[in-house]
Amino acid sequence: MTVLVTGGAGYIGSHTVLELLQAEQNVLVLDNFSNSSSESLKRVKELTNKTVTLIEGDIRDKALLETLFTQHSIDSVIHFAGLKAVGESTEIPLDYYENNVWGTINLLQVMKQFNVFKFVFSSSATVYGDPQTVPIKENFPLSATNPYGRSKLMVEDICRDLAASDSNWKIALLRYFNPVGAHESGRIGEDPNGIPNNLLPFIAQVAIGKREALAVFGDDYDTVDGTGVRDYIHVVDLANGHLKALAHLAKQNGCVAYSLGTGKGYSVLEMVKAFEKASDRPVPYKIVARRPGDIACCYADASFAKEVLSWTATRNLEQMMKDSWRWQSNNPEGYKK
Ligand code: NAD
Ligand code: WQD
Repeated sequence: MTVLVTGGAGYIGSHTVLELLQAEQNVLVLDNFSNSSSESLKRVKELTNKTVTLIEGDIRDKALLETLFTQHSIDSVIHFAGLKAVGESTEIPLDYYENNVWGTINLLQVMKQFNVFKFVFSSSATVYGDPQTVPIKENFPLSATNPYGRSKLMVEDICRDLAASDSNWKIALLRYFNPVGAHESGRIGEDPNGIPNNLLPFIAQVAIGKREALAVFGDDYDTVDGTGVRDYIHVVDLANGHLKALAHLAKQNGCVAYSLGTGKGYSVLEMVKAFEKASDRPVPYKIVARRPGDIACCYADASFAKEVLSWTATRNLEQMMKDSWRWQSNNPEGYKK
């Protein structure tokens, strides 16, 4: 039996493919390389000494999906493919809805056509909006403040409706908190295009000298030191969460959401300090205005995933930072040599 992994050449996808291969699963990857290259999976093959079939193509291409489901004995899908930049989503919302919402509907339609009902979806902690309290539990109210977040919420709603319409569906909505770090080999990691939007890749590029200083977005939040607090989770822990969710689907009924985080929050300045320690490099920063749309504090109550999936994050902040730095320093230009 084969797991179809859409977006499997990307950051979280490539780490998950590696863990799936190590768990002796057959893996078929579909990726259009809009935000990745085949180099990540070439390295995954080297690291695991296993094969993975990689198809260059788009989830919006129904004929291609039908061919894949005809040619391979796919029995479950892990769906990473999509666009993920919050700022960009406000500029080109139609692209976000087309890729993330319509692309997913297309995929679900073909799954249904081929009687494949096990689905693991990359949702995001962004669906909790600006939570009234922390830690955040799965049953907190959901909302979105930008097209990216809305696209995730729409897909969640579609999945809930689908599962309610037909009890064959078994769907895990995985709400990731803030994925960081890289595989401990230093061979695969996050390879952002242009100026990184997210904190960790930006800090890493400052430490290596590619950028002058980190702009810290606001130091007047109601947090430990005034800077934003987030629940950073090691990407390998996150990848393993997918394997646990997939294994659990056989026993699960309907559509269930799980928060995947560590349950601990760190501020921007705590992250800077921890990275300086791990890299032994200075990370100069300056405080600038708040970034519109940012919230003060966000971290998970990770107990539901622990109880139901027997999954818990095991890598601490030091490991996240060391692994990020190993990836950044061994691959200063990412996958581009
Ligand atoms: P990524 O951009 O590295 O990976 C996404 C992959 O999907 C890329 O390889 C891209 O080429 C591919 N892709 C995009 N559109 C496609 C399409 N229409 N057809 C086929 N392939 C397509 O991003 P990531 O960080 O690995 O994120 C994976 C998923 O997790 C995304 O859905 C993202 O929204 C979600 N997520 C990410 C984060 C994060 O901070 N990284 C947090 C929460 C949720
Ligand atoms: C983290 C903290 C910033 C950059 C986003 C998406 C979310 C999810 C993960 C996909 C915040 C501060 C950042 C910088 C800074 N993605 N920061 N200077 O905003 O928590 O979440 O990525 O689903 O949907 O919204 O992550 O890494 O951008 O920011 O001071 O240059 O770092 O203000 O407090 P965020 P982030």
